[in-house]
Amino acid sequence: MTPFPAGLSSAWAPIALSRQLRAKPLARQIGGVPIVLFRGVGGAVAALEDRCPHRNYPLSDGKLRDGTLMCSYHGWRFDGAGACVEAPGAGEAAALGRLGARTLAVAERHGAIFVKLEVGDGPPPQLELPPLVGDPDHDHFWWTRDPWRGRALDALENILDPFHTNFIHDGLIRVSRARQPVRQTLTFREDGFEVAYDQDDPDRGWMSRLLEGERQRSVGRYIPPITFQGRWEGPKGLTLCATAFFVPETQERYRAFGCWTTPKGRAPAWLKRQAILAFVRPVSEQDRVALDKQHATITAFGGPRFKSGPTDRVTVPLTRLYQGERLEPGVDGPHTIWL
Ligand code: FES
Ligand SMILES: [Fe+2]
Repeated sequence: MTPFPAGLSSAWAPIALSRQLRAKPLARQIGGVPIVLFRGVGGAVAALEDRCPHRNYPLSDGKLRDGTLMCSYHGWRFDGAGACVEAPGAGEAAALGRLGARTLAVAERHGAIFVKLEVGDGPPPQLELPPLVGDPDHDHFWWTRDPWRGRALDALENILDPFHTNFIHDGLIRVSRARQPVRQTLTFREDGFEVAYDQDDPDRGWMSRLLEGERQRSVGRYIPPITFQGRWEGPKGLTLCATAFFVPETQERYRAFGCWTTPKGRAPAWLKRQAILAFVRPVSEQDRVALDKQHATITAFGGPRFKSGPTDRVTVPLTRLYQGERLEPGVDGPHTIWL
């Protein structure tokens, strides 16, 4: 099985937050491809393969000069469209037209920078984002961390899996000694699925109680290839939405980006941000440590060998979609589970 999701190269993937790209080039990687980001003329973001077309020096080692990126090996300069605008030492008449660097489709929107690895012929592709991300009727903020070790697939399974919350996040989200009945319903579409959790009482962990109030329903969606979206709903509708992107950098490392969305008006955006971050920081650290241990074990044994139990209902549809297969539309459930 490929360690990268089948649709990765044709998907828009976040690569950096806007605030992370300033006056220096930024080296990143997606699906094993080194990429350099920089701000060209007027601050417009540019994404090039991080490989100078001259002698394949890393362009991210270079410097910015008047909105162009100058390679530090021989000083060739490239503009935001990848065109070579100077090859020092050649004199005025040098023809540079065929010396350009390879560009990627790039878009900066709502505080994040997205790229698409595969650019076909024709007009530049339009950015597509999951529902609610950047929606003007809601407050949003982004969260990201340095890359985590492991497979993006395991991170996606982790975030779709509620059963680890009683253990890894014991006391924060749910509690292991006081499980409660929840109705779980899976709905499959050809190109994605969602899992709804209906419950009469909110989760018993203190973070859940603090942040959510009266929760009635939560829904976790997998939007292939790299995106999870969780929505929490109370009697008056959406209370919180988390969109998480797990971007594989290499076969053994991924970078997570989260966009947190709340309806406008109930509390100031900065206060909601602080409250949510107080929850995200410890919970994400617990997941990072767990996924790191899982990956170390998988690596020590030369690869994964999983046995799925009666609660592992998302594993098969998740893995199939990740590998580029399609699902049979349908509904599975409701099942009563104990969380
Ligand atoms: S390798 Fe970049 S200018 Fe020569
Ligand atoms: Fe978790």
